[in-house]
Amino acid sequence: MTEFPELPHGFVFGTATAAYQVEGAVEADGRGRSVWDTFCAQPGNIKDGETGEVACDHYHRHAEDVALMRDLGMDAYRFSLSWPRIQPEGTGAVNPAGLDFYDRLVDELLAAGISPVVTVYHWDLPQPLQDAGGWQSRATAQHLADYAAIVGARLGDRVRMWVPVNEPVVVAMFGYALGVHAPGLQLGARALPVAHHLLLGHGLATQALRAAGCHTIGTASNHAPTWPASDSTEDRAAAALYDTAYNWLFADPVLCGSYPDHFAEAMPGPVADDLHVISTPLDFYGINYYQPTVIGAPGATPAQSSPLAALPLPDGLPFEPRPLSGHPTTDFGWAVAPEGLTEVLQTFRDRYAGQLPPLYVTESGCAVHDVVGADGQVHDPRRTAYHRDHLRAVAAAIADGVDVRGYFVWSTMDNFEWAEGYRQRFGLVHVDFATLRRTPKDSYRWFQQLLAARP
Ligand code: BGC
Repeated sequence: MTEFPELPHGFVFGTATAAYQVEGAVEADGRGRSVWDTFCAQPGNIKDGETGEVACDHYHRHAEDVALMRDLGMDAYRFSLSWPRIQPEGTGAVNPAGLDFYDRLVDELLAAGISPVVTVYHWDLPQPLQDAGGWQSRATAQHLADYAAIVGARLGDRVRMWVPVNEPVVVAMFGYALGVHAPGLQLGARALPVAHHLLLGHGLATQALRAAGCHTIGTASNHAPTWPASDSTEDRAAAALYDTAYNWLFADPVLCGSYPDHFAEAMPGPVADDLHVISTPLDFYGINYYQPTVIGAPGATPAQSSPLAALPLPDGLPFEPRPLSGHPTTDFGWAVAPEGLTEVLQTFRDRYAGQLPPLYVTESGCAVHDVVGADGQVHDPRRTAYHRDHLRAVAAAIADGVDVRGYFVWSTMDNFEWAEGYRQRFGLVHVDFATLRRTPKDSYRWFQQLLAARP
């Protein structure tokens, strides 16, 4: 599979991870506890009772991992900082050992010729902040900014790009509305203030990073094109509503300084003032893309095979997830639809014309239940095809005039996939979670050739 997609000179290729998904070492060197430690310890929350206690043990094996990344030849590595490792209480005193770890990692990456891209907050909220209300509390937004100022001051001279908050929609929806992620609350629509506080945290942290001398600050927001289940008025109206709640509720405030429809009325605090902060100009807008969502009017058919149907959705919702037929699926059951990536990039260009900074695909990837074969190799042609086709989808958007500057593979290596535990493998590098042995997969070799063949 050597037909490489054509992307412009200077296009950034990267891979991505997040601290709780790879680091392990949850007790090491003064790290505090996060909501994910707590959530994993509660029986029934994670498949097979797994936790991120060891994960890939990247905290201890970072040198080996950076060497694998160097050999892979990507331009950039996006990783997150563990807030409880750096500020165990979420406020106040800094744990020097925690900050030192990232300082060393940044230097190791630079020495390997890889640009560090830092996510400040990728879901591992310090538990003391959760005890004080978590993202239901407005104060958490300011605490995030204070923490961002600390890490910005230490790492800002060497980090190429910054992402204050990973996927606010997923934290609000999975963590606070549905309860399938930490902190496991099932607030339904009462989770809307959480969305506002996360967005405010993004804006305040953006300002704090900039004040600390950091440059190139953006987002990594999850977006999914929403496809109506049919052309009926009811299905189209239901899909439009879902699209607003999932996509535009999170992008409009950042890019236009306003909430769509009547959502501003549901938000707490001085919303108009907050929107000024939330819409602090960005240097790039990062989109995490996995698959489109098909939505119909409620009550028509049981939506058994939709990936969203497995979620504990509350009764009485004005929309219903439906299966997406006619597309192959990953082993996670997610539809493989690269045209959805072209569409989402074009939609951003059109919706935010004149207000949109350059776009990046800050995550895209597919889960396959890979095994190390008798030959000692991991043959994952479906992952290679996935990335080839999604890179082509990016190239199609660029050819159509969309300014897309880079693509980050989720993920560098197999890791702790949140509520799914270790079953869903997204990595270019296979990790044997019993021995922690790393094995580059065929998709890693494909990228290696692609990157080496660049002019
Ligand atoms: C998240 C990752 C996650 C990936 C696959 C993204 O929503 O940022 O942490 O592992 O999707 O589910």
